[in-house]
Amino acid sequence: MSKDYDVLCVGGLVQDLLVQPIPRDLFDKDAVHVNSMKFNVGGDAANESTVMAKLGVKVILGTEAGDDETGRGLIRYMESQGVDCGNVVYRGAQRTNIVMVEEDGQRHFVVLAHKSRGFGEKEDFDYELLDHIRFISVGSIHIAKALDENLAEYFKAAQAKGVVTVADMVSNKGRQTLEDFKEIAKYTDYLIPSELEAQELTGETDPEKMADMLLTWGPKGVIIKLGAEGSFIKNAEGGCFVKAFPVKAIDTTGAGDNFAAGFVTALTHGWSFRQYAEFASAVGSLSTQTIGSTTGVENFEQVIAFMKKCGRCDMDV
Ligand SMILES: Nc1ncnc2c1ncn2[C@@H]1O[C@H](COP(=O)(O)OP(=O)(O)OP(=O)(O)O)[C@@H](O)[C@H]1O
Ligand SMILES: [Mg+2]
Repeated sequence: MSKDYDVLCVGGLVQDLLVQPIPRDLFDKDAVHVNSMKFNVGGDAANESTVMAKLGVKVILGTEAGDDETGRGLIRYMESQGVDCGNVVYRGAQRTNIVMVEEDGQRHFVVLAHKSRGFGEKEDFDYELLDHIRFISVGSIHIAKALDENLAEYFKAAQAKGVVTVADMVSNKGRQTLEDFKEIAKYTDYLIPSELEAQELTGETDPEKMADMLLTWGPKGVIIKLGAEGSFIKNAEGGCFVKAFPVKAIDTTGAGDNFAAGFVTALTHGWSFRQYAEFASAVGSLSTQTIGSTTGVENFEQVIAFMKKCGRCDMDV
């Protein structure tokens, strides 16, 4: 049966005010003059869905936006990027983060300690949508309270309808018990933690041991992201390292979101597990070559040409 969308991408959308360069002695001065001060759209699901749309995926965004002009403006922007915003919930005031970037690229965030629980309240999940999508990709487990509480139920319903579930994550920071996490993992087909997150969950330091333990909790594939080293992947058929691609990395912000976008895009093409990770790795690496989270990747053809140039494309494309 043909579906209306390939992927529902769930998670965060924020407005970032990026200011650079900020000197270390900012607070010793009355005023500092900077070269660049601009608003950017950020957030895990905003980044991931934008990159997926560029890669030719029919993606619908599930997120929370401010119930104000700023929030509606961000959503208009997302739509202009080719992302369907049919599952957006408008609530409260739009969140803005200030990102202060030092001369050497180090970032410092000013984040409003606000009361919103984010997208993921029971009523935010559209159960009818499950008949119209093939995949769900969650930006980050552990980033929003509401999502942590209600995701397992939605993933369970999704899997029952044959929808494949994918989740990236952030560090737990005491937000959820391990038992609650395992409840989500039970219904997650592909889990994409970073090395640090996988270590935190399993207590292991060797990527293969981390993957082995995570696999016992439910996923049929585990992909552990290792930054410039690439990733370690494992499923029932075995495990292997998948290298990053050779690039001159200048900004790794959002590399994880790009990797996830690449992985889910690859899933929609129905290749092999290793090929999903190869394509994801190419997308992640490409994303680090430019400043900004969604600027490195242009389209599907660019990624394939890059993989071929590196002698690492064995997909039938
Ligand atoms: N310095 C780099 N050089 C080449 N490729 C990179 C580099 N950093 C990241 N990548 C690519 O991007 C992928 C994801 O990056 P990373 O492992 O940092 O994810 P993450 O820890 O989830 O990051 P994030 O901080 O975005 O959450 C890597 O697996 C790799 O393929
Ligand atoms: Mg990450």
